[in-house]
Amino acid sequence: MAKEMKVTPWEVSGHIDYEKLVKSFGTQHVTPQLLRRIEKAAGELHFMLRRKIFFSHRDMDWILDKAEKGEKFVLYTGRGPSGDTHIGHIMPWIFCKWLQDKFDTELYFQLTDDEKFLHSDLSLEETNRLAYENALDVIALGFDPEKTFLFVDTDYGKTMYKIAVQVAKHVTFSTAKAVFGFENSTNIGMAFYPAMQAATAFLPSVLKGKKIPVLIPAAIDQDPYWRVTRDVAEKLGYYKPAAIHNTFLPGLQGPDSKMSASKPDSAIFTTDNPRDARKKIMKAFSGGAGTLAEHRKHGGNPDVDTSYQYLYNVFEEDDEKIKEIRNAYKSGAMSAGEIKEILAKKVERFLKEHQERRERAKHRIDRFMLKD
Ligand code: TRP
Repeated sequence: MAKEMKVTPWEVSGHIDYEKLVKSFGTQHVTPQLLRRIEKAAGELHFMLRRKIFFSHRDMDWILDKAEKGEKFVLYTGRGPSGDTHIGHIMPWIFCKWLQDKFDTELYFQLTDDEKFLHSDLSLEETNRLAYENALDVIALGFDPEKTFLFVDTDYGKTMYKIAVQVAKHVTFSTAKAVFGFENSTNIGMAFYPAMQAATAFLPSVLKGKKIPVLIPAAIDQDPYWRVTRDVAEKLGYYKPAAIHNTFLPGLQGPDSKMSASKPDSAIFTTDNPRDARKKIMKAFSGGAGTLAEHRKHGGNPDVDTSYQYLYNVFEEDDEKIKEIRNAYKSGAMSAGEIKEILAKKVERFLKEHQERRERAKHRIDRFMLKD
């Protein structure tokens, strides 16, 4: 039997049943009708929408209503700086970039050095340093400096704390325990932290002095925060934020394996030397049959193959090409080595270009950062 699924903001494990998550979290499916509406408004559909990588949402229809009436919405996403950035982290950021381009929207990006300090053995100095490292990866993706605002919680505390205390006053400890599973042994910083993550959904309204609709693209494990945020929003005079949720990218060790900064071989990090990344791909879990002869005869399984999954989720945007790869791999015409080679080439190229843009971001970071 597969290990029982667990999806919380701090732990994702077991085999993930996304259908079950939609039910238990009470979110909506991304339906064909919704996709048609997005396509009409944006002029095209991002491949992560076409492929249902963004599979679930809250109030996307309301965001589209606003957009159709010409009312601006803004984007909000973030990152808990507990280590280097890996490819799984940047999936929602890539999608945010597309939304920014298509809808001409601002993006607010929260880097939670406080959260990761409270939740790990890292020092605050270290999580703060990592926040600025991770910020370089965000900037390297090409966001518009006029419309993109990054901040690090402990360096934007004066503004954030004023919003967070308003939120905190309306969230009881019993709600926090029920939603986040806090226990008596949980430190009280953790019990307060959700107010900080909620506060960012109201930050644009505070900064602009009027109610601003907010859309949050993020992996589904962050949804518990949005439930609490949505509960308090109207009491505080703000709109409930909308959300759109993506699935998780598997680790390099196979379908239900996890990516972790403490296990270098579990993930491809944006700071990996492209040659090392290639080696990781060559060692990664494969859905190919045991020997080449068997593979030619029976074919491989793309649904568990790491290289196929990385191509499908991130590196091959072209639907025709991904279909060809899928069919060739399944039939055995394409070998496990060949599919790895396709991914390795794309990843090497991405890393080389990303790392150049990341270097340049070091000189541009001040243009993006909000500070008190
Ligand atoms: N809690 C998130 C993490 O651990 C960081 C975060 C803060 C975030 N605000 C967010 C993530 C908004 C997505 C969207 O990574």
